[in-house]
Amino acid sequence: MSQIVLLEKIHPNARQLLAEQGFTDVREVPGALSGPELIAALADATVVGIRSRTQLDAAVLGALPQLRAIGCFCIGTNQVDLKAAAAHGVPVFNAPYSNTRSVAELVIAQAMLLLRRIPEKNAKAHRGVWDKNAQGAYEARNKLFGIIGYGNIGAQVGILAESVGMRVCYFDVESKLPLGNAKPLVTMEELLAQSDVVTLHVPGGAATENIITAERLALMKPSAVLINAARGRVVDIGALSTALRQGKLAGAAIDVFPIEPNSEKEEFVSALRGLDNVILTPHIGGSTEEAQENIGREVAEKLARFLAAGTTRSAVNFPEIAHLPKEARSRVLHIHRNEPGVIAHLNAAFADAGLNIVAQQLQTRGELGYAITDVDASIDEALMTRLRQVPGTIRCNLL
Ligand code: NAI
Repeated sequence: MSQIVLLEKIHPNARQLLAEQGFTDVREVPGALSGPELIAALADATVVGIRSRTQLDAAVLGALPQLRAIGCFCIGTNQVDLKAAAAHGVPVFNAPYSNTRSVAELVIAQAMLLLRRIPEKNAKAHRGVWDKNAQGAYEARNKLFGIIGYGNIGAQVGILAESVGMRVCYFDVESKLPLGNAKPLVTMEELLAQSDVVTLHVPGGAATENIITAERLALMKPSAVLINAARGRVVDIGALSTALRQGKLAGAAIDVFPIEPNSEKEEFVSALRGLDNVILTPHIGGSTEEAQENIGREVAEKLARFLAAGTTRSAVNFPEIAHLPKEARSRVLHIHRNEPGVIAHLNAAFADAGLNIVAQQLQTRGELGYAITDVDASIDEALMTRLRQVPGTIRCNLL
């Protein structure tokens, strides 16, 4: 029976979904733990669920030989040593798309507020100034909405923008199927020069660092606005601050920053502070009650499928095997080093035991191999011992 330990106040619907799937041995630990305390709390755990504050590094993973799967109830997985987890035969699951809609809605709201110059009007009203001037305030209808990075979020934002009457264009480094009437553009420069709203939805990392430079900002219309809810280093914030102060851009909404405070206790420092035409938000693009609920359900479902059938679809560090419900009497999950001869040895062990394989799936990823084998007979401990002795075996479990 699987012992599941959930840390950091994971949404209750995770526990509910696990129970619905028959996994009721669930223990909850409020808050995050570390070091020996964490290892002690997970001593019997076959599955652990964490959010972003629990660090599962190589030392912790090395001290938990019984652990079979990790669920990160969040988007990022930096808090887990993914390589070490893979080396121990432990798949890691997360919820990369649970907050797509939340980000998309915020971006549309920001676009409409910026086009109407609401941030300035709001700031002035707070200072007692009654500015009813309509100059520079526009409807969203018929304006051109430019999306840089037409992936999950970008495409969803495009659909919402069309639903309020905007025209949509996008630029992506990959060829992407346009949704609705969205128009793909060949260069980012074209998009910047034409759009009334420019919104960024590219991944982070070296390839997208500072793709919005002073030169590219200079291509934008002075009436246009820029939105970044992607990653903090995608925009050169110094250049953006200068462009806004010089009136070369009408406004901006920024949710992500090159340096973000680690907690509420740290001061948020940015060259954009104090500008009335900038909406600043503390990296909350995806932070909604609905996203938390979705995350709870999405990760719990992945864990339940792994426990019930060995499914590893969408694991971040592991060969992916699609969901196939267990129908034969026994299913063997064999995790091994990706090297020649492993499957031959594995199948010889089944044959020597007089067992016929009714289905087998194999996937490899980097140094790891993963085979799921179904046989319509019960499997005894002697055969399990032999399967675990197959050269290259990392872990072998029976369902
Ligand atoms: P995705 O991977 O589905 O889409 C990214 C798209 O950008 C892909 O279509 C890719 O081909 C394209 N791309 C990559 N490099 C590009 C470049 N140089 N120029 C143009 N296109 C490029 O990612 P998803 O899920 O849509 O997320 C987008 C961003 O939103 C990510 O950076 C993610 O970290 C961020 N995010 C922010 C949140 C927040 O709270 N503010 C919450 C969730 C995601």
